[in-house]
Amino acid sequence: MSAQKIFFITGTDTDVGKTFVSCSILAAAKAQGLTTAALKPVAAGVSATSRGTHNDDVVALAQYCSIPLTLADINAVCLNEAIAPHIAAEKSGVKLEAQTIAGHCRKVMEKKADLTLVEGAGGWRVPLGNQETMADIARLLEIPVLLVVGMRLGCLNHALLTVEAIQADGLELAGWIANRIDEKMPVYEENVATLVNLMPAPMLAEIPWIDDAHPVESACRFIDIGKILSK
Ligand SMILES: Nc1ncnc2c1ncn2[C@@H]1O[C@H](COP(=O)(O)OP(=O)(O)OP(=O)(O)O)[C@@H](O)[C@H]1O
Ligand SMILES: [Mg+2]
Repeated sequence: MSAQKIFFITGTDTDVGKTFVSCSILAAAKAQGLTTAALKPVAAGVSATSRGTHNDDVVALAQYCSIPLTLADINAVCLNEAIAPHIAAEKSGVKLEAQTIAGHCRKVMEKKADLTLVEGAGGWRVPLGNQETMADIARLLEIPVLLVVGMRLGCLNHALLTVEAIQADGLELAGWIANRIDEKMPVYEENVATLVNLMPAPMLAEIPWIDDAHPVESACRFIDIGKILSK
């Protein structure tokens, strides 16, 4: 592959499938023989694993990185409590500075994997402190954004407001991914069609509700990696 591709992965909210979709995109890229890297610069919430106490997203993303990266490479700041990052940081006496965090991300970006994904925390406008937000990290990195829309009631408003915010911040929305997180969402197809109509960037993948033993591998089948890398 000629050019290195890097995207910032944001979502319409927390728990909408940013990590799940990121892992699926990375897995699809790996399956095509591309090298992959991931970052979860700010993570909140830890659990005990065989490799020590770590954030679940960081461990999940690490599984789909093909270049050698430690969990500490993937994650600049790990906060113990699964709460709003700036509050978790304040409680543990940590200062979240977008510039420092972006610097950490650049070191991984410089490893030049064919595809690098940077997963935000929560949604676009999650505060890092009194002034900065997660968006400042994407802004400093100057990378295009992929928006994961968690398809459930309320997602149209969340998706359209998030796009307005991304554009107001001067970033490029490369595209969005419809991720069905509510199996029983009424009028699902109509909601997807509404977004296709109203969003200013293309839908790059549509991932159904997946309930099986290997969800990432199953989701991979719904990802056309060429389409994503063409953005
Ligand atoms: N298409 C789907 N089908 C079934 N389950 C899904 C789907 N997408 C996501 N999930 C599940 O929803 C939950 C939340 O997904 P995920 O952790 O990827 O969200 P997130 O946006 O990364 O959350 P956070 O804001 O905490 O980083 C997970 O248990 C995930 O497996
Ligand atoms: Mg996540």
